[in-house]
Amino acid sequence: MTMEPWRLLVLLLAPIAAIGMGMGYHLRRRRIQDGNSHDDKSAPLPPPGGMRSWCRAALGFETLSFLAANSSGRGFYDFVRSRGLRHGACFRTALFGRTHVFLLSPLSRAAAPTLLLDTHPHMAKRYLRTVADLLGEHSLLCASHDAHRFMRRAVAGLFASAPTADFVQSFDRLVTHQMQQLLLLRGKDEGRVVVVLDAALEVTFRAICEMLIGAQDEGKLARLQRDVMDVTRAMLALPLRLPGTRFYKGLQARKRIMDALRQEISMRRQNDGLEMDRRNDFLQTLLMKSHTHSAEEALTDQQILDNILTLIIAGQVTTATAITWMVKYLADNTELQDTLRSVQVDIASKHHLDSPLTLQDLNTMEYAYKAVKESLRMATIVSWFPRVALKDCQVAGFQIKKDWIVNVDARSIHYDPTIYPNPTVFDPSRFTNEDLKPPYSFLVFGAGGRTCLGMNLAKIMMLIFLHRLVTNLRWEMADQDTSLEKWAMFPRLKNGCPIRLTPIHKEKLC
Ligand code: HEM
Repeated sequence: MTMEPWRLLVLLLAPIAAIGMGMGYHLRRRRIQDGNSHDDKSAPLPPPGGMRSWCRAALGFETLSFLAANSSGRGFYDFVRSRGLRHGACFRTALFGRTHVFLLSPLSRAAAPTLLLDTHPHMAKRYLRTVADLLGEHSLLCASHDAHRFMRRAVAGLFASAPTADFVQSFDRLVTHQMQQLLLLRGKDEGRVVVVLDAALEVTFRAICEMLIGAQDEGKLARLQRDVMDVTRAMLALPLRLPGTRFYKGLQARKRIMDALRQEISMRRQNDGLEMDRRNDFLQTLLMKSHTHSAEEALTDQQILDNILTLIIAGQVTTATAITWMVKYLADNTELQDTLRSVQVDIASKHHLDSPLTLQDLNTMEYAYKAVKESLRMATIVSWFPRVALKDCQVAGFQIKKDWIVNVDARSIHYDPTIYPNPTVFDPSRFTNEDLKPPYSFLVFGAGGRTCLGMNLAKIMMLIFLHRLVTNLRWEMADQDTSLEKWAMFPRLKNGCPIRLTPIHKEKLC
């Protein structure tokens, strides 16, 4: 393919011009900063990034490095970690044309109360436009401040103790069934390897859907699962609305999900009217509320639909990923796996074999609960929390400009050796004296008005999965590759964590 000479010239000169402009701009800023610091020594400075980083950012190299970290199998966080080592606990960079500031521990912990508790007057939660396109403008994850408060109040009741207690039983039923299938597989094919991520995605999806929209026929559920997967994959894709692109596929999948849910709503309204419907899933509760309450108090159909989709997406992949890491950490620590097994088998021996677990049963599982928390700390599914500056302001003593994005880095807190000694060692016992930990040192589910709504459900799912797995099966990793999956929303193993299972009992599950 030939290229016109003027195009070639532009291509050759563009980087030089960009460097020149970048350096000029940077020097001007340095002069302004120097002037400032001359006049007023206490005036806050912008976060460090350095001349070299600034030029790299202006040329898009920082974005390329960010993407390269992802492609290398080390994951996006590697980009943050390496810059933290170079610049310290606060640094500035430019990604995808926006200025990003990262606050690492201890600064992130210090800034968390104001940034995450929404008490900073000029900082707001930041979401990606693509996420709003895919989940809907009413999604809790994207709604503006006031709309969010209203919707969160409307949805939060669904996570009260009675529905949670029901959820424990239904999740336990699903996991027990899944373990039985795994045991059958083992019987047929010795040495068969199970990919934990696949199993966890399957069981969490079923459980969350049952809770939200009730039991569905297998065909509908399979279609929904495929569509939810397409929406999830599109969330990090370039927003190209062209047929064949990941983003376009995600939008099409959202449309199908919305159509299916609208059909479900109209079927429930037609069948003898809502009052006669005995279902007690989330959808039914929200529909009943919109039927009996005033428009100011109840959610519209579109708000309900957007948030049903949001809850599936926010709950399934996060929890399945956390379960996968937990299984991996215990595969790597066989002594701890054995200790946990003897504690849980003891608990199981006091339990009636055929009845599902209850919330009370889970409350007795102290050691397993510590293993769940330690897994959540080490995995840190959501690595950082982005907040955007609505106007020029100060954060953690640094000057922040309007539109800059400030990221509270949870991972650096969870790996801070002053809070968690030997942070790379999997040690559930570190959660024994939690009161001694400083505030904002466990940010797995965020904090403040945007704290994860499903955190109790997530912990319940992890605990039940762990209990049923450890009391019935021994496991070891079937593949030691620790590289991370590219383009995953949350850091997770590329191989999905394949494990080799050995049943503990000959016949029945406990
Ligand atoms: C281990 C599993 C989970 C992890 C690590 C996790 C983590 C988080 C985090 C960190 C946030 C806050 C984000 C921010 O402040 O920017 C969040 C929000 C949220 N999560 Fe979770 N989550 C998990 C499971 C679930 C489950 C099971 C559900 C529901 C079925 C759920 C529903 C939500 C919702 C609706 C929000 C938005 C809350 C709001 O903005 O008001 N999550 N999650």
